[in-house]
Amino acid sequence: MDRIRIGLVGCGGMGTRHLYGLRELRRTGLANAEIVAVCDPKQENAELAASEAERLFDRRPEVFASVSEMAERCKGLDAADVVTEPHLHHAVACAALERGLHVMVEKPMGLTVKACRRMIETAARHNRKLSVNENYRRDPVNRLIRQVIDKGLIGRPYQMIHHSAGGGDRVVITPWRHLKARGGITLDVGVHFADIILYYLGDAASVFGSAEVVREVRHRPANPNRPYEFHKRRLAGMEETVRPTAEDVSAATVRMASGAAVDWRLDMAAKRMGYFRRAVYGTKGAIDCPGERNGRPATLHPEDREKPLVGREILGMLPDFELDPVTSALFGKKAVEYPFSPDEADLKILALEYHEFAEAILNDRPPEVDGVAGLKAVALIYAILESSVAGTSLRLEDVEVGKVDAYQREIDEAIGI
Ligand SMILES: NC(=O)c1ccc[n+]([C@@H]2O[C@H](COP(=O)([O-])OP(=O)(O)OC[C@H]3O[C@@H](n4cnc5c(N)ncnc54)[C@H](O)[C@@H]3O)[C@@H](O)[C@H]2O)c1
Repeated sequence: MDRIRIGLVGCGGMGTRHLYGLRELRRTGLANAEIVAVCDPKQENAELAASEAERLFDRRPEVFASVSEMAERCKGLDAADVVTEPHLHHAVACAALERGLHVMVEKPMGLTVKACRRMIETAARHNRKLSVNENYRRDPVNRLIRQVIDKGLIGRPYQMIHHSAGGGDRVVITPWRHLKARGGITLDVGVHFADIILYYLGDAASVFGSAEVVREVRHRPANPNRPYEFHKRRLAGMEETVRPTAEDVSAATVRMASGAAVDWRLDMAAKRMGYFRRAVYGTKGAIDCPGERNGRPATLHPEDREKPLVGREILGMLPDFELDPVTSALFGKKAVEYPFSPDEADLKILALEYHEFAEAILNDRPPEVDGVAGLKAVALIYAILESSVAGTSLRLEDVEVGKVDAYQREIDEAIGI
């Protein structure tokens, strides 16, 4: 077996992007995975994805209405790529794992910590790979920043800031992103940033946070978010207004196990003065992090130099820095800054995710972001939300094992776990 046969489960906006991501991998000549089936209870979505796949790969995948039907009837299937709304991740992923499929699941791994734990237990019980699509860390700039930190170029990191503001009063992509029991926006967007914090600095120890729903009504977005046919149809069918039940603004201080402090601001309600700032300060310098999928350079400020080092200049201090061969094939050798549009970069990162997942199966090795890493990112977000409800700081460990779950209990009930 040199190619993993995958069924796409969830043919919505991100499911469509996954197909284009796999095409991107194909273009490198390094493809080790193929889509042989698509599955969605909405037949129109499944058929549209099958047509996209046929156009991209010259072969129409089989179409199914449920993951169990797909697992039972699709011959030679190795894995499921779970891209449904988050409130279904655990049920769909566990159904696939129980039927012997390996699973790659979009972020957030599960809707709650309990849902994530179920997925980990099911994967272990059936001895299957479980890989979580935390895409931001795979951007070459974040590979570089992690090396800068690991090699001690900024000394001991003692503080990180992660601030972002925007979103206004529009629906962010889909209505479900504003509903607590379906995948609130603090989780859906915040989990990306949580994973980056953990990727840069290691485990989190405690959190003191606050969160609230600022926008009581949100309006249909002005544009479809991406250029694909599915996204146009999704927007055309969207209701004019949504009444959010999920927090859209959060602030927190996170204390890492290393002792570093992280200042967190995620404001998805800001209508004016949108901004993004991420930086890590250490005892020997600081690094300014430009975010993901934009190709912009990181800027390293070593304490003992008058001028900062920008983008590729940083490589002068990291002579051994290498991107892995697939990242190099997609972005270019040592491409720590790049000329691709955010959409192009998005597809290249998806190509990386498919490749790494397939390699984990083919070579029986753990995926980079396994269930435990996926759970930790989800738990960090819930630690902020749980802390806001509790009015006190919380230990991450207590949230990760489910000892603290007052905020999540109502969601767990809604999703029946
Ligand atoms: N990594 C990223 O940058 C990124 C970006 C966007 C979305 N996502 C993630 O991708 C996931 C999907 O988001 P989206 O925007 O595509 O949502 P979406 O609402 O556009 O699509 C979800 C699809 O899942 C289908 N579905 C529902 N129940 C199903 C079931 N039981 N089996 C199979 N399919 C089912 C729906 O019919 C729909 O077609 C979410 O977890 C989201 O957070 C990740």
